[in-house]
Amino acid sequence: MFNFLTLKFVKMKKVLVLTAKPFAPVAVEKIKKIVNEAGYEFSLLEKYAGQPELIEAVSDADALIIRSDKVTREVLEAGVNLKIVVRAGAGYDNIDLDAATEKGIVVMNTPGQNSNAVAELAMSMMVYMARNLFDGAPGTELRGKKLGIHAYGNVGKHVGAIAKGFGMEIYAFDPFIPKETIEKDGVKCVDSAEELYSTCQYVSLHLPANEKTKKSINYQLLSMMPACATLVNTARKEVVCEETLLKIFSVRSDFKYISDFAPDCIGEIIGKYEGRYFFSPKKMGAQTSEANINAGIAAANQIVSYFEKGDTTFQVN
Ligand code: 3PG
Repeated sequence: MFNFLTLKFVKMKKVLVLTAKPFAPVAVEKIKKIVNEAGYEFSLLEKYAGQPELIEAVSDADALIIRSDKVTREVLEAGVNLKIVVRAGAGYDNIDLDAATEKGIVVMNTPGQNSNAVAELAMSMMVYMARNLFDGAPGTELRGKKLGIHAYGNVGKHVGAIAKGFGMEIYAFDPFIPKETIEKDGVKCVDSAEELYSTCQYVSLHLPANEKTKKSINYQLLSMMPACATLVNTARKEVVCEETLLKIFSVRSDFKYISDFAPDCIGEIIGKYEGRYFFSPKKMGAQTSEANINAGIAAANQIVSYFEKGDTTFQVN
């Protein structure tokens, strides 16, 4: 026979942290504390082998905290108890939003929580390339160079603030942000992507990947860049058109590409364009303890707030 305690135990909500690329252990501990203090069960699956393991793990979870993990329709269908998925991070292109909406599952992100980490990486990659990948030969400085920020969201704004400290001249293009908002940061707002690319030797991408932005960084834009052009991509691999990338590498010996993820066409770049590219071995823009803690805590709190108060701030579907 059930008593009250048994009933409560049976109904305990389960929050599953599902991360192929694990958070820093300190972030996991903090997430666990929030979840347990709310009276929910905490569960962790890191470095899983593939989708089958993920699909099995979600079967009894009420809430998921994920990173770039692929939450497909199949995953959402396997999660028969799922009510909420929180992407601990900014981009949610890894989640099937239509499927989630059809199933009544709320999807959220944690905007801004890992922005500084990504911005620091973008700046450090610019320095690394400007200094010839630290090969000992004289490089160049960032001071006085023009930096174009393509999309002025949380990460773009941080990049601008840090780059100012380097003495760079900052420009930005973002059709979704009012000109006044950009200019009050001391950043010159331009009216088109064309103007940004034709003005700036460095362009740093901070666009989300969606149907409109995929492959949008095309030959027309890259060919407009001034001499010694460097494209910095800590956004998403998919926003750069790879046919364009190969063409620009071959026709402009001054073009450089630094990215937090290797393009699919990496095989056609390595060995051919040495000294003109750098790709992180693993996407690491948000890989700092601070970013993991910020995004992880925000995700856990958002889940508790949703279950306890129906708070849907940061819902993206
Ligand atoms: C984001 O969208 O927040 C970043 O790309 C970080 O992704 P990650 O959590 O997979 O490192």
